[in-house]
Amino acid sequence: MPAFILAEKYVKSRAPKVARPFEGLKLTACLHISKETSVLVNSLRDLGFEITLAAANPLSSQAEITAFLLSRGVVVLGRKGETTDEYQKDILRAARASPDLIIDDGGELHFAYASSGGQTCFGGTDETTTGTTRLRAMDLAGKLRYPVIPVNEAPTKHIFDNKYGTGQSSVDGLIRATGILVAGKTAVLAGYGWVGQGVAMRLRGMGAKIIVTEVNPVRALEAHLDGFAVLPMKEAVAVADIVLTCTGQTNVLSAAIFGHLKDGAIIGNLGHFDVEIDVKKLFDMGTRIEQMRPNVAKIELNGQPKKSVLLLCQGRVINLAAAEGHPPEIMQLSFANQLLSIHYLVVHRKELTRNKTKLLSFPAEIDSLVADLALKGFNLKIDRLSSIQSRYAHSA
Ligand SMILES: NC(=O)c1ccc[n+]([C@@H]2O[C@H](COP(=O)([O-])OP(=O)(O)OC[C@H]3O[C@@H](n4cnc5c(N)ncnc54)[C@H](O)[C@@H]3O)[C@@H](O)[C@H]2O)c1
Repeated sequence: MPAFILAEKYVKSRAPKVARPFEGLKLTACLHISKETSVLVNSLRDLGFEITLAAANPLSSQAEITAFLLSRGVVVLGRKGETTDEYQKDILRAARASPDLIIDDGGELHFAYASSGGQTCFGGTDETTTGTTRLRAMDLAGKLRYPVIPVNEAPTKHIFDNKYGTGQSSVDGLIRATGILVAGKTAVLAGYGWVGQGVAMRLRGMGAKIIVTEVNPVRALEAHLDGFAVLPMKEAVAVADIVLTCTGQTNVLSAAIFGHLKDGAIIGNLGHFDVEIDVKKLFDMGTRIEQMRPNVAKIELNGQPKKSVLLLCQGRVINLAAAEGHPPEIMQLSFANQLLSIHYLVVHRKELTRNKTKLLSFPAEIDSLVADLALKGFNLKIDRLSSIQSRYAHSA
């Protein structure tokens, strides 16, 4: 049985006499509107929440999922291809739905809730690295008023989702968008964190030559010892057929870099927000722009000689815009963590509101529970420490 269903059973087992333990509570979420999200949202709804869902990206919403969730009484805000303005307005509307709890992916909903002066929320979660960074900044600035669990900090989230999930689904998106042969190509990965490591591993497996660019010396060394070339961005792009950003940072592919790209280079982003490639500047510099395929824009740049670059998915996450995001086997782990974190926030509501620091550490007990459930779900058995080993481990 999948780990997510086991997690749902666990939540129900904590209040066996109550059919809908979250009855009377409002939850607002900002997530990619995908089939995996529908499983989480549907489960939260069955457990009693009244739910409003906004899209975490204007390109990732799936129409059939929206229709399904609407039929289940969920308020869904967001559709594939909406404008940036519509998308931001939807997040604001979601923030104003007086939620008791917030599930977010990237921190935008928490930010919108704080800016619109919301007073009802008593706890929240966030799904990804970029969201955690943003929430930490909000907490330090005193703008986070309720406890938030950074789900990305759970090893059962970032190891499996960011590394293995993004590793596979990004290559899937790259191929669906372009139809290219990966073998023999030179691919630059900007950032060798969880995402960069996963994508590098999978592209290498398909025969690409990998170059890593980094700003963190430890991660640069790690890439080197993993057998990848490490170069500064200007040198790397000069030989690259494919350049993918996975940093969570802004302006990683900027005007200063565009001139160094090879003719025909494919560029795309895997980081949460569309800020890693300076798309506006790239379009401004373009002398001719042609939409070659649904997710590929060819931009001709002036220079000696003239050259073109192929921008994927308008600089938004390739794996969600051009493919279907992570496989369900991965998302069930991330969403088991989400479900159990929401349960944790409800159960520990009183003591958590007393916490001075609002961005919490990820509760280790949830992580071990999800790992145990996942082992069961994957039908894997492992050894346990013997009593001698346990005593040895704890001896002073
Ligand atoms: N596409 C997806 O499905 C998906 C899944 C998970 C995470 N993400 C997003 O991907 C991004 C990266 O996540 P992560 O978990 O790998 O984060 P991480 O912190 O583990 O890694 C990011 C790496 O980028 C490096 N970096 C930062 N600025 C750089 C620059 N200018 N040039 C080169 N390297 C730079 C950092 O040193 C770090 O090693 C985040 O925005 C995260 O939210 C996307």
